[in-house]
Amino acid sequence: MTPQHALLLGATRGLGRATARLFAADGHTVSVIARRRPDPAPEDGGGSIRVWTADLGNAAALAKALTEIHQERGPVQSMVFFPRFRGDGDAWRGEFETILDGARRVIEGLVNQHGFRDGSIVLVSSVNARLISPKLGLGYHVAKAALNQMVRYYAVALGPKGIRINSVSPGTFLKDETRAALLADGKLERLSREIVPLGRVGTAEEVASVIRFLCSPDASFVTGQDLVVDGGVSLQFQEALATAWDPGRPGN
Ligand SMILES: NC(=O)c1ccc[n+]([C@@H]2O[C@H](COP(=O)([O-])OP(=O)(O)OC[C@H]3O[C@@H](n4cnc5c(N)ncnc54)[C@H](OP(=O)(O)O)[C@@H]3O)[C@@H](O)[C@H]2O)c1
Repeated sequence: MTPQHALLLGATRGLGRATARLFAADGHTVSVIARRRPDPAPEDGGGSIRVWTADLGNAAALAKALTEIHQERGPVQSMVFFPRFRGDGDAWRGEFETILDGARRVIEGLVNQHGFRDGSIVLVSSVNARLISPKLGLGYHVAKAALNQMVRYYAVALGPKGIRINSVSPGTFLKDETRAALLADGKLERLSREIVPLGRVGTAEEVASVIRFLCSPDASFVTGQDLVVDGGVSLQFQEALATAWDPGRPGN
């Protein structure tokens, strides 16, 4: 694949960091924006990953970072958006500002100020755009659902400029920061064997591969779509899952 310049919003940890590594390994130039410089820096061997610091909520700082990236590394061909709100404040407002205002600000900044054309955008959503996990809070669910509609809107609005935009909706995945804790007692692996059709928990690297596909020419006629990456777990009717746990139950 021809080397690209990929702009990754929030790629200093977790899925974003795994994606930055994958893109760098493919030979792409990777520009990252997050609020803090990570320690250690995302490793790529060749120094193709560089990090700019800006808060999505600070329009001026974000615009400055986008301008510097454009001037120093040239036009962007792909943008991938990872951030969600993980603060202590008002989670409703925080999720909306981080996910929705943030994504819109980056997309419109790229298109209107930096002439972004003929490229790909991937917004990272979640299975919780459609399903409910009460611990994750109302704002997360509603903001992710709205993000999927944002994808469809922009797919129609930006298609004439040659811009494709899609979302990826992961279920739970293992990432560097949580892998050890999630696997420590074996419960998640046992549960995944029981309820995930593919029989295991997925990884950040597997989600990153789907993002890579959507940013590549292999997806050149795909826009406005949401790709669920959850090993099939969300396909099942909840009552069928419950009966799988209790074979004596009526309806099994
Ligand atoms: N983890 C899972 O199992 C899971 C499952 C389904 C979906 N997802 C989705 O996958 C995405 C990535 O999740 P993750 O858990 O891998 O990542 P994460 O640990 O939440 O990292 C988020 C990234 O975004 C940056 N960020 C957050 N707020 C920002 C802001 N206001 N301005 C600029 N950068 C900001 C963070 O860096 P700074 O804090 O330094 O800014 C970090 O690089 C999220 O959209 C999440 O909803 C995750």
